[in-house]
Formats: sequence, structure tokens, C-alpha cells
Amino acid sequence: MTSLRTHGLTKAFGGVLAVDGAGVELRDGEINALIGPNGCGKTTFFNLITGMIRPDSGRVTYRGRDITGHSPHRVAHAGIGRTFQLCRVFPRLTVLENMLVAVRRTRLRELLAGLHDKGEVERARHWLGRMGIDHLERAEARHLSYGQQKLLELAAVLMAEPDLVLLDEPAGGVNPALIDRIVTLVRDLNAEGRTFLVVEHNMDMVMGMSDHVIVFDRGRPIAAGPPATVRNDPRVLEAYLGV
Ligand SMILES: Nc1ncnc2c1ncn2[C@@H]1O[C@H](COP(=O)(O)OP(=O)(O)O)[C@@H](O)[C@H]1O
Ligand SMILES: [Mg+2]
Repeated sequence: MTSLRTHGLTKAFGGVLAVDGAGVELRDGEINALIGPNGCGKTTFFNLITGMIRPDSGRVTYRGRDITGHSPHRVAHAGIGRTFQLCRVFPRLTVLENMLVAVRRTRLRELLAGLHDKGEVERARHWLGRMGIDHLERAEARHLSYGQQKLLELAAVLMAEPDLVLLDEPAGGVNPALIDRIVTLVRDLNAEGRTFLVVEHNMDMVMGMSDHVIVFDRGRPIAAGPPATVRNDPRVLEAYLGV
């Protein structure tokens, strides 16, 4: 079954065509990678899918339903979660509080007053445990390493139980041991039925982890296929080397 499909997706900033008629199709249950040189439109593509910005033209459908231009809240509700290239956690909230605001942003005051829902706290501890950071639940997020903050961000995204998870450079700025943990987590979460679209520059990680690799250049896909095929595609080398 088709998970996410975009058709002719386009977004310009001033004179810069950040995403230029991008058509992409993801199948349910696969780990997909989105690679391409800096500035080729990967993050903008994520922002268009998740409703952070509206496309100038084109469509986004998820499991056959049109979600073009829907608000981030509605997109999340449809089952799509995402992390950010520059990790976003609340630095002065504790790890556990970060998990709980993820599910109830509107009731921050209650959260801080200690009125936690027991079920939510249990689910938060479950995901923190899966990430291996449950021992840090009382620490303020700003005291975690950058890699641990990324794990926290992913754990918070999972609180909404997304079926499709978009990760924007999960290994960026993260030490090798934590990169291995992230790869294992993505594989496990995928084996449990979640679909992934991962923007990543670490080619060992991309080629070792993905079922399907999509290569962007100047705002649109120029190649796609299994890692072994994409790796040997001359267009991919050209895109990276600017030949
Ligand atoms: N908010 C914005 N305003 C103006 N230009 C932007 C904005 N966001 C991205 N761009 C431009 O759009 C292009 C694609 O950027 P981006 O999607 O961040 O690429 P990538 O994630 O592949 O590195 C770049 O030229 C970038 O400078
Ligand atoms: Mg980016």
C-alpha cells in the first residue's frame, strides 16, 4: 500500500525554487532515505509534507487521503511524525516533562503543576526506556548531550504513535555509539510496522539501513531505488560533485 505520495510539489522562496515539482512515492513499511547535496530542498520538502509551510502548487496524499496544506496538528493526527534538523526540545523542562508536553501542548500549566495522567507517564517512560534515556527523566533537557536530546526528540514524536516518521539528519552532530543506537531503533521501530523517511548525509548509515533511496537535486528527485542501484548511478555522483 502507498504510504505517502507527493505530486508536482513546488515551493519558491523569492527567486529560489527550493522544491521544484517533486513527485515521490513511499510504500508502507519501508525505510526510505532522502539524500542530496546541501540546499537541494530536503528540509523544505519535509516542511511541505508536515504543514509547516504551504506549497505554491502540487499535492500531498497520505494513505490515499489529500493532506495538502493541512496544519501541522492535522498532519500529526493523520499519523505523520517528524524530527528537526536542529533538534527541538524544551531546554528548561525535564526529560519527562518534554515527553508530556508532546501530547498535551495546550495544558502546559497543568503539566507544570504536576497533574500528570498516569497512562501518559507510563507511555512516556516506555519510550524513554526504548531510547535508553529513562534514567534521565528528571534531568533538564539542556543537560543532555546533543545525541541524547535527539533521542528525546524522537521519543517525544513517538508519543503520538505515528505510522510514518520523518527524520531530518538524525545522525548529524551525534557520536558514533549513539548513531548505532539510532540505526537499531529505526530498524526495530520499522519491524513493528512504522514507515520511515530519513534525510541523512552519513552514507554508511543510509546505505546500510534503507530499503529505498531517493536522491534529490535542485528540488526534485533525480534517481530512486535500492541502495546498491543508487550508489552506482552516475547521476547521483554528478549531483554531489556538481559535474
Ligand atoms: N525560509 C526560507 N527562506 C528563504 N529561503 C529558504 C528558506 N528555507 C530554505 N530556503 C532555501 O531553499 C533551498 C533549499 O533549502 P533546504 O530545504 O533547507 O535544503 P536541504 O535541507 O536539502 O539542505 C536553499 O537554497 C535554501 O537557502
Ligand atoms: Mg536540511
